[in-house]
Amino acid sequence: MDSNRLKSPAKFASLMSKVLSRVTPSETEEVAMRAGINTAIGRISKIISGRAEIVVAGSSARGTNLSGDSDVDIFMLFDNTVSKDQMEVEVINTAKHFVKGVKNESYVIKYAEHPYARLILGDLGLNIDLVPAYKISSTDEMGTSVDRTQLHNEFVKANMTSSQKGDVRVLKAFLKAHSIYGAESKTEGFSGYLCELLVIHYGSLLGVLEGIASAKMPLVIQPGRDAKESADVLVKRFGKDFVVVDPVDIGRNVAANVSEESLARFSLASRFLLDNPSESTFYSKANSDVNPQRKIAEIRNRLGISVHSITMDFKDISPEIIWQQAKRLERKVSVGLESDGMAPLISLCNISGRKAVICFFIENDARSISIANGPSVFMGNAADAFINAHSSAEFITFKNDRLFAVHRIRKRAVETMRKIASSAANRPSHMEKGRMSIHSDAKIPLESARLIYAAYSAKISV
Ligand code: CTP
Ligand code: MG
Repeated sequence: MDSNRLKSPAKFASLMSKVLSRVTPSETEEVAMRAGINTAIGRISKIISGRAEIVVAGSSARGTNLSGDSDVDIFMLFDNTVSKDQMEVEVINTAKHFVKGVKNESYVIKYAEHPYARLILGDLGLNIDLVPAYKISSTDEMGTSVDRTQLHNEFVKANMTSSQKGDVRVLKAFLKAHSIYGAESKTEGFSGYLCELLVIHYGSLLGVLEGIASAKMPLVIQPGRDAKESADVLVKRFGKDFVVVDPVDIGRNVAANVSEESLARFSLASRFLLDNPSESTFYSKANSDVNPQRKIAEIRNRLGISVHSITMDFKDISPEIIWQQAKRLERKVSVGLESDGMAPLISLCNISGRKAVICFFIENDARSISIANGPSVFMGNAADAFINAHSSAEFITFKNDRLFAVHRIRKRAVETMRKIASSAANRPSHMEKGRMSIHSDAKIPLESARLIYAAYSAKISV
């Protein structure tokens, strides 16, 4: 590992302490949050009256939460005699009773692997994710994947110093600034727990930045494991080049959701920050979205390209599902455009509420011929076979001793897009029927243009 990329340690230290004081909750904030959590736990305990153990989990339990972030994770731990269906009923009932008749309080049921309740508590200034899980002491007893969280809590508490907690907070802020914090499909970046493991593994924030700045693929990290396995075996097992083995469950890659692009962005951003520690390398520049239609027109004109979008309305379903389905369609259309000889320069996806837009920047968005390259005439029977196979060609001719056939075709990007997006196999299953429309260039509606320009700005920030 190249451990001396950092050329101005003093500048780095002063920037980091500035950021640390910004992202660490103040004494007042901390006290208010603890009081709110205690009140909430008291009320939950009354409702559940001993049928589950109530514990705080996640970053607010570990001291790695960011200032201004009022999301708290509270787990209801049941013993294994309770069925999953019963757990579900308990959590929904608890949420219902919790907010019943209380002003400024409401809840929504959310779905991850299992349903959980999000309590929105206006007067306490908190949003609580109330998550049901089985109480376990090792992953052998695991009944649902969220059961691991309690073990994560213990591992992090036992292995992290208080200065490392500060490092985690700064690391999260850095990743957030570069739009790669969070494991959800929208971001395909680094979860809070992954940040904690990276700091534990590399020892400090500086260690993480230097490690990631100089990382070579494959990158395999095994925090807190005495008997390490070979990197090759782990890369094969998880089918990924970036593996961070969960110390509480060696069958899980904590970095499973990190895309190659997110890791590459982290590496480059780390190099820039180490080379020149400053506010501008720590926080990436924000792009204004004033008049996105004009901005997209400028890009089109400057580069001589065209821009095509598909806008869809989804049913009332979680953003995670909308992102997954929209991104899947984006990949399918991209592949289709490429195989029709119109590979997009850039492809994008963005959502807002229930609206999703996928978009393609294309240099040549129409094809009138396709070219098939054939063999050398001197390669035995291959030339005859080629000529037979291309009997419908407009013409066949020579490039030196090799043949090539030219076919007349009529392909336009929008037609390829429509064909792929409307096929039964590709159409997103949670899309509202008939709520898909394709637009090109100046005809792209304002709302879509805004989403496209925001995604474009994030994409081209390097
Ligand atoms: N968790 C996990 N895998 C995920 C998401 C969550 O194992 N993909 C577990 C982790 O143990 C995590 C806890 O659930 O600590 C709570 O999740 P979340 O609130 O997303 O993360 P935090 O660590 O609390 O970070 P943040 O400060 O962003 O809330
Ligand atoms: Mg959390």
